[in-house]
This record gives sequence, structure tokens and C-alpha cells, in this order.
Amino acid sequence: MKILAIETSCDETAISIIEATGDFPDATYEVLGNALHSQIAIHVEYGGVFPALAKREHAKKLVPMLTQALSEAELLEEGDHNLTNEQTEKISTILYREPDLSETMLEFFNKYEQPEFDLIAVTSGPGLEPALWVGVNFAKTLAAIWNTPVVPVNHMEGHILASIFDIERDDQLAEISLPAISLLISGGHTELILMNEWGHYEKIGQTLDDAVGEAYDKVARMMDIPYPGGPEIGRLAGLARQQKLPTYADLPRPMLNSDDLNFSFSGLKTAVRYKVADQVLTGEEKQALARDFEDAVTEVLLKKAARALTEYGAKTFIVGGGVSANQHLRQSFNAKLLESHPDVTVYFPHRAMSTDNSVMIALAGHARAAGALAPAAGQLIKADGNRSLATE
Ligand code: KG4
Ligand code: ZN
Repeated sequence: MKILAIETSCDETAISIIEATGDFPDATYEVLGNALHSQIAIHVEYGGVFPALAKREHAKKLVPMLTQALSEAELLEEGDHNLTNEQTEKISTILYREPDLSETMLEFFNKYEQPEFDLIAVTSGPGLEPALWVGVNFAKTLAAIWNTPVVPVNHMEGHILASIFDIERDDQLAEISLPAISLLISGGHTELILMNEWGHYEKIGQTLDDAVGEAYDKVARMMDIPYPGGPEIGRLAGLARQQKLPTYADLPRPMLNSDDLNFSFSGLKTAVRYKVADQVLTGEEKQALARDFEDAVTEVLLKKAARALTEYGAKTFIVGGGVSANQHLRQSFNAKLLESHPDVTVYFPHRAMSTDNSVMIALAGHARAAGALAPAAGQLIKADGNRSLATE
């Protein structure tokens, strides 16, 4: 089954083409084309993702990403098509809020032959709603003109599958034992998810305020590190560990001992703010503070992870979302979680699959292929910024 996957939930415009052989979850996946445009440079001056700009940039980059992915997959073939009036009208109706995208899609359809896809998978949530809508409307247009079924994918299900997909070795999903627990940590989410069977999720814990990635980015900003600060905080913290710098800030571990699986990071963020105040930090102070912050975050995440594993007797622990790229977190989970729970297998995504991408959307699309909608019914798909895994 050939799948075209589209991701526009935040600040990456990504399109992948994947060939799935066999049934989910035992299929083999081949990535035929993979195009990704990061908008980070555009959002840097705002210190975070600016939704209206994200939407405009997605609209600008979707067709170039599509042609790039098609070309990589050797599916881009020029022809001399002429859309019927009815088709042209359909495109402008679906894309009436995106006139520029409508224009470039008309050109695209008139210039290239129709590639054959069995399924179009598109992220419909959670994420920034204006950004999601562009991707969803783009998918609807492709589905309508190519007469291809379309499936709306949950971005967080994509992150879970990304973490158990071995893109380098055998292009398959790991054979995990269920129940599994997943810790999803990204710019917008921090949650513990219980999966008793494939595709059924229960939220067993979540942040009561900031997401971990958000805390990383805000702390970075306090230290004058440009958006997204997460990776740079991780790098600075690594330098502090290498040099064994002394503690700079005695930071709290919010909700470490609370009798539940929830988290809170805003108090930790505020503690960093008080410590920084209006000082100009030296290089070493920055490194030490980054390390102290990272240690506090990691300790809380580890403790709740261990608690969840014990409470639910799970043998699989899956870490996913952008923050799972963090080096210290990876090392700590692989060492300490396995110390307290030696019979558990811990999964982290391949580095290229930890932040937002569309390969994971293709995997989730394949998992949900049975629920795909015919092109006409697909017109009813809605973007949902708050789409939750707990209702899947
Ligand atoms: O999953 P993702 O790409 O986008 C969302 O769905 O939010 O996650 C982005 C988040 C950002 O907050 C970014 O700072 C954080 O992941 N992040 C990291 C690292 N790489 C990305 N945080 C800590 N260490 C990293 N190496
Ligand atoms: Zn994400």
C-alpha cells in the first residue's frame, strides 16, 4: 500500500511517501520520499511559533515539499493535463481560505501526471489549529482530484509509533509486549499514556501546566538562547556534566512525591526565573543552570515513569515527542529505569524521528487505514487543535 503523509501541526511542513507491505503492526515500511521544511528561522524573532505565520508558511511550502517527495520517490512525471471546470471549482471551494495555495495547486495538477496512492494520511490534531487546517485542506484537495481515500491522523499516535520504528535496521515496528506505557514529551504535551491494545489509549497522567518542551524553551529564553532552546539547553548541560561544574541553582522537583502520575513544570520554570533575575550569566553559570534544570526535569520524569510501570505492570516503556531527542534523558532512562525495572524494554525514537516529521504520520495512517474515508466523505474531516489520544 502506497501512502502519502502530510504533517503541518506546528512549525514543520513535511510530506512523506511510504510503501507499506503487509498488515499493521507487522508490516515492512519503505520510505520512498521524505521532504521536510523547518520554519524555525521564521519564528526565531518571536521566541516561539507564531500561528498566523506558520499557516502562511505551510501554504507556501506544501506544494514544493510534495514535488520534492514525489521526485525522490520517482513518481513525479510531467504531462499535459487540463483540469475540468468542475475540478477547478472544487479546488477553489476547498481552498477558499488559502487562495495562494489554491493557485499553486492548480498549476501542480495541470503540470504533473497523477501518481497512484492507496491512501492519504494527514495530521488533523493536536496542534496549532490554523496550521492544521492548511494541511487538512491540502489533503482534501489531493483526495478530491486524485480520487484517493483519506485518513485523519492523531499527531501523538504518530509520535508513539515513531519511537518503535527502526528506520535504520529493518524498517519495521518493534514487536512490543502489551500493555505498554508511553511518555509523550513535546512542545505542547507531557502525558503518560497506557496502551492495553494497539490503537486504544488511556491517559494516566499529564502536566497540570507547562509541557516539558515548553519549559525547556522558556528557560532557554531566560538565558537569551533563541527558539527552540531545548537542544541548546541539552548541549550546555552536557558541557556542565563534562566539567563537573558545581550546583548553581537549587531547583525544586515539582510533584515528585505526589500520589498520582501528573506533572507540573511552571514552578520549576519560575524558580529558574528568580535565579536568573536580571543577571548576565557567565558561560559556566549558564551551563551549570542548564544542567540543574535538566536534572530536575529528568528526576521527575523518571520517578513518574517508574511509578506508572509499577502501577500497571507494563513491560514496555516508550518515550516519544521532540524532547525525547534529549541526550541526558535517553541515558538516564536507559540506565535508571532499567535498574528499577530490569524486565522492561525502553524505546526511544531514532534521532531523525524524534521531532516532528511525516514518516510517523504515514505509520499512524497505516494503523488507521481501515477507517479511511472515501474522498467525498473526507471533505468532512476537521482540524482539531485539542484532539486527544484518550478518545482514540
Ligand atoms: O514534537 P516536537 O517536534 O513538536 C511538538 O509537537 O511540540 O517537539 C518540539 C519540542 C521543543 O520544545 C524543543 O525545544 C524540544 O522538543 N526539543 C528538545 C530537544 N530537541 C527538541 N528538548 C530538549 N532536548 C533536546 N535535544
Ligand atoms: Zn510533535
